Formats: sequence, structure tokens, C-alpha cells
Amino acid sequence: MKRLLKGGRVVDPANGRDGAFDVLIDGDRIARVGRDLPIDIDTSVVEIPTGFVVCPGLIDMHVHLREPGQEHKETVATGCAAAVAGGFTAVACMPNTVPVNDNAGVTEYVLKKAAEANMARVYPIGAVSRGQKGEQLADIAELRHAGCVAISDDGHPVATALLMRRALEYAGMFRMVVIDHCEDQTLKGDGVAHEGFSASTLGLRGIPGEAESIMVQRDVALAELTRAALHIAHVSAHQSLDAVRYGKTRGAPVTCEVTPHHFVLTDDMLASPRPYDTNVKMNPPLRDDMDRDAMLNGIVDGTVDAIATDHAPHHYDEKDVEFDRAPFGITGLETAVSLSLDRLVHSGAITLARLIELMAVNPARILSVPGGSLSEGAPADVTILAPDLRVTVSVAAMRSKSKNTPFDGWQLRGGIAATLVGGRVVYVNESVNLRM
Ligand code: DOR
Repeated sequence: MKRLLKGGRVVDPANGRDGAFDVLIDGDRIARVGRDLPIDIDTSVVEIPTGFVVCPGLIDMHVHLREPGQEHKETVATGCAAAVAGGFTAVACMPNTVPVNDNAGVTEYVLKKAAEANMARVYPIGAVSRGQKGEQLADIAELRHAGCVAISDDGHPVATALLMRRALEYAGMFRMVVIDHCEDQTLKGDGVAHEGFSASTLGLRGIPGEAESIMVQRDVALAELTRAALHIAHVSAHQSLDAVRYGKTRGAPVTCEVTPHHFVLTDDMLASPRPYDTNVKMNPPLRDDMDRDAMLNGIVDGTVDAIATDHAPHHYDEKDVEFDRAPFGITGLETAVSLSLDRLVHSGAITLARLIELMAVNPARILSVPGGSLSEGAPADVTILAPDLRVTVSVAAMRSKSKNTPFDGWQLRGGIAATLVGGRVVYVNESVNLRM
């Protein structure tokens, strides 16, 4: 079956396209992109409303799907439903499941669940170390052959420089990137919030930005030493971005991501509007104005390569405890695009094309997975954005199993109209006027 997306603004930075084009999908592939494409008898035509944007499917390279083992928080199926509602056609899922994804059995289980869910594409990320204990390397070849696209001990840092060096060397042989959650545990101690005015006022133990940046500096040096691809997860501190920038100027193969919460929120949220709200507790923590502005500048100047959500669902009961005792993390799949359009594009900080680079082109490149472009012959993974849609974030309407977001009730400009994976319509926003 053929489907023609007719009349939209196509933004496809990988092919240098930004303008009025039609996109013809044949089966699960992009067949043609052009102007006034001929319509065959077997082609169904989708009229794209003025102002809507057709772009390559967005890829979230950092999510926690919690299955196996923590299905009360999220399953692969509910996470994938949240992903497509948030405009993501693919997600890469972290290995801190129970048991840890450090062997082919767990990887294959996740892929089987993803095939059953049949919504977003799922790319498992294997563990760096067995059990994420930071002691022995996991069997990286086995993880690669089972379908992992990268390795990470996310949730935990790779504590020793030697293990990180070996991880880079082995992963490099299999053309996999190592994604590091950078945090010096000795400096973090039992901190729960950014070390600064807000934490002090509320009597919360602090985590300085240096707890992150010291390890980013180490990793950048190791990437330069090994020449193997390194990706820094959820950068939050201005010192860390400086380290990445320095590494890039020296030609080190380093990339990094920033989450929407770290470029939108600051640690002011610890005190107001709801003091001690556990939905603003995440790791790394929300930092101060200077750090938030540094993230924005990094997005503008190209230091930041990707926007990733670190979607970290937790059950209501787990978050409904004292701040100190709550788990770190917030959901992100269903708010990322609206926050990014509102705060980055409508504010004039970046163009829509740059946003697509950050959310589709670069994640595909960093993970070496298909997608990130609307090239002829590419998989027909397509996101249709409604950049001017007025969106009120509603946890009640979310598809994720967990509701731990600080953005409930926020009014934002920009949302998702529809999501297609392999040519199949997997999500249509009922509040927009689009007949698929
Ligand atoms: O806030 C976080 N939550 N940061 C992480 O690195 C892990 C994640 C989780 O798994 O809940």
C-alpha cells in the first residue's frame, strides 16, 4: 500500500530539505520526496494541514523501560505507547532492569517484548559491567550479537578508569558507543539535590556539579587515548559541557546529550511551587540558572549533540515518600517535544531543523541505527509535528504507566500530530485535524 503525505513542510536536515514537499511512502519505506508527486490509483492521500511539519522519526536515545523486573513502573509495551504518543519512532533502553541486561537472554527478552508491542522500535543498550557492579566487563560481543546497539552502566557510573578504558576498547572493536553516567560517588556521597542555595535552605544534602564534571573530564581523556566513541549521558553541569567542548576541539570522539528538564528547570523548583516535590528529584539533579543557561548555550553552539529524555518511570507509592527516600527520576517521553518546541524553537534559540538534528539525525548517527532521514529507500519512520498546537500537559492522559512528572498542567506551544513507524500509523493525536 502507498500513502502520500501531501502538502506539509518537510524538515529533513540530513538531506538539506526544509520546505513544501510531498512524501510518498510505499510499504515500510520512503519511496520519494518531491513536489507535486503523481498519485497512483492505489495511493491513499493524507492532506497535511498548513503549519504542520513532516520530519524523520524522532529517536530517544535514553529511556528506562523497566522490563524485565519492574513492570509496576513501566513495561516495554506501555513505554513504547508513551514513546509514539510523544513523537518517538524509536527508543534506546537502558540496562538497569531486574535482572540487568548484561547477557543475551535479557536482550532477547526485551526485543521479544518490543516485537509483541509492535509500536516504536526498541534498541537495547547492554551493561558495561556484569550486574552493573563496576567490577568485570560484561560479554560485549554476546550483547552485540543479541542486538544491543551500545553499552552503558546508566544509573551507576563506571567507577574505575581502567574498566572504562577497557569498555571503550572492546566496544570500539564492535562499533558500539559507550554511554557513561558520570558521577564521582565519593563526591556525591548521599546527596539528593544540587549543592546550592535551594538545597541549603531546605536542609537537603547537596551534590556539586564537579561530581559530574570530574568524571566527564576523565572519560574525555580516555576517549582521546583509545580513539573509541564515548557519549556522555544527561549532562547537567556547566563544567561538564566545558569538558566536552574541550574534548571536541582536540578531536576526541565524544558526543553528549541534555534532557529537557535540565534545559528548562532549575533547583528553584525544590522550594516552589511544591516544596520537597519528589517529582523534581532526579539524577543528575536540577542545577542552578548558570548551569541551565549553559545547557541552552551548548544546544545553540553545537556542543550538545542530542536531546534525550532519561524517561525514568517510578510508581506513585515509591515517589510518595520523604524527599531523601524517593527514587531519582522523572518521566519524559510525552513532554519532550512540547518542551523543546516551546523553549528552544518558539523562543528563537534554535531552528526547527536544528531540533530535528538533536532529536533524530544525531541520535541515529551516535547509535549507528537506521533512521534520522527521509531519504528514498529509508525506513518510513516519520513524525508529524503540530508546532503551534496549544498543549496542556495532563498526566491523566499519559500512556506511560507512571505519572512522575513535574510538568502536569503546564501550558506549552507545540505538539505531536501523528507518528508512523515502518509506514504504519501508530499514533494520531485526536485533538488535531488530521485524517490518516
Ligand atoms: O534520575 C535517574 N533515574 N537517573 C538515572 O541515571 C537513573 C534513572 C532511573 O533508572 O530511575
